[in-house]
Amino acid sequence: MNEFVLRTRITQFSTISEFAQHFQPDEQDCILTSRFLTNIFQIPQLIGIPRMIAEDYGQGEPTDQMIDAMRRDLPASVRRLIAVGGGTILDIAKFLSLDYSGTLDDCLMGKVKYKRARDLIVIPTTCGTGSEVTNVAIAELVKRKMKKGLADDSLYPSQAVLIPQLINSLPYKVFATSSIDALIHAVESFLSPQATVYSRLFSTAAIRLILLGYRQIEIDGKDSWPALAEDFLLASNYAGIAFGNAGCAAVHALSYPLGGAYHIPHGEANQLLFEAVCRKYEQCDPCGRLAELKQLLSEILQTPVKQSLQALYTLMNYVLKRRPLCEYGVRWDELESFADNVIAGQQRLLKNSCVPLNKADMLEIYQSIYNQ
Ligand SMILES: [Fe+2]
Repeated sequence: MNEFVLRTRITQFSTISEFAQHFQPDEQDCILTSRFLTNIFQIPQLIGIPRMIAEDYGQGEPTDQMIDAMRRDLPASVRRLIAVGGGTILDIAKFLSLDYSGTLDDCLMGKVKYKRARDLIVIPTTCGTGSEVTNVAIAELVKRKMKKGLADDSLYPSQAVLIPQLINSLPYKVFATSSIDALIHAVESFLSPQATVYSRLFSTAAIRLILLGYRQIEIDGKDSWPALAEDFLLASNYAGIAFGNAGCAAVHALSYPLGGAYHIPHGEANQLLFEAVCRKYEQCDPCGRLAELKQLLSEILQTPVKQSLQALYTLMNYVLKRRPLCEYGVRWDELESFADNVIAGQQRLLKNSCVPLNKADMLEIYQSIYNQ
């Protein structure tokens, strides 16, 4: 059995200048980023380095059309792709690091072979996805009206560069949704049947850092989070390493329809489902893996084991208030189709749930968060 894999070299710098000094970018590199981040590259070492801006090719989450157009414009001579941004930029960069004939649709539908074409260096600017250390990328196939993911070892970034200074200026809402996402990566990988003693080390460290950080923010106020930027960036990275090995599970699977149909931000959609999924786990198997999580939470949050999950929900709700599903415009009569879609398309995630969930369980979960 494969116990643990970490293929990406991780380095940390205080500033983007330090990064540039170490990596010495030149005209054979290409920086891929978002328009609102371009001001961070105004340093002498990065002037003249070829650059691609994702928004020049489309808005929002990555689509095959955006990526096809970017591939056409990406010079064949590019040796290293330097991706600086959140989940969208990192996913685009992973696809652009591959070489294949035809379109991304051909590639994702298995019609053509692909291989790694260039080195990929990633610098995350949010504290959530953990994508800088995983082998997964997701894009929307526009004509098919579906999201499709690729999980393959050729997608591992060769280098992940952590620069806490870059996340200091995130708006609070982005900090909250991304750190909640990281916490859920950590919890889902902790509970996963695929977890190993190694992956659990990272899950546990991420849960601890994030919850102690949230507790501090509760004391010092929501504006105080940038003082803990390094902790949250590290925790997101640890959680990425953990779920890259043990997988995410039902929370992520059930949140897919909410992101796809209603464009609810990924971390927020996960937060909507987290408590309801955990309650279902507790109802079905109170003595299973969830009992170990409760023990860990009790120790971190200094609460009795019996109340530790409730203490977690309360803390998460302080960081990002959970709203009922009906407030997002979701219709009650759609919930059954959400459950069907999850069963049809998300087995990759569902297999990592610590309690197998059937359609009736999923429908009950969606219904339980509809009005409250
Ligand atoms: Fe996630």
